[in-house]
Amino acid sequence: MTDLSPSDAAKDAAARAAVALVRDGMRVGLGTGSTAVFMVHRLAERVRAEGLRLRLAATSRATCDLARQLGLTIEDLDDIGWLDLTIDGADEIDPDLNLIKGGGGAHLREKITAAASDRMVVIADPGKVVETLGAFHLPVEVIPFGWQTTRAHVQRLLESLDLTQRPMLTRQRDGRDFVTDEGNMILDLSLEAIPDCRALSNGLSAIPGVVEHGLFLGMCDLALIGSPDGGVIELARPEVVE
Ligand code: 5RP
Repeated sequence: MTDLSPSDAAKDAAARAAVALVRDGMRVGLGTGSTAVFMVHRLAERVRAEGLRLRLAATSRATCDLARQLGLTIEDLDDIGWLDLTIDGADEIDPDLNLIKGGGGAHLREKITAAASDRMVVIADPGKVVETLGAFHLPVEVIPFGWQTTRAHVQRLLESLDLTQRPMLTRQRDGRDFVTDEGNMILDLSLEAIPDCRALSNGLSAIPGVVEHGLFLGMCDLALIGSPDGGVIELARPEVVE
């Protein structure tokens, strides 16, 4: 990979640092998105060069296809059962390592995979680090049946939490409703800022028809933030004091 843009060089630096955490024999979840693409390439290089024996699960069809093209063997998460490590990208990362994910529409499989992992490591460029989550649209995956009713429930929830937002958009691709790997739709919430992520997360999860949303709270253990010069900053999750 030569002639990378500054942003891609940062993503690649983060990806390399994350792949350096992989050890022979590990069970690893592979994330989705442009940063994860660098990670899959770097992992494939290590597997080829070092003969690492890994068990790998992918968080999307796109990642599965890329990994297989690069010679990696992908298994079903259920056949592996539990993962040592998942490496994934993010759309926003706050100081507590809470995340917004789902810019690529894969947050359902990504959350299932991260939740089945001892450790979730996020890789990103510096533009993803924020003080407060919410400037990036928050994806909410809903099943097609009754989706407008589900959307009305979401709207009422936002009002009850005093979360003003621009119109809630149904994600589109190529002039049609975007369809996730699970055959669902995505509502993108433009909230600007989310002062109480836990309240919103709990509220969304309680709505029938909402399959999963893109708030990943308390799931990320380490964020590796690459920079265009190849450096990497490590952000660890602050200790939670009971
Ligand atoms: C896909 C995701 C991605 O990890 C997230 O959108 C970041 O993508 P990118 O690395 O392309 O910025 O959550 O559902």
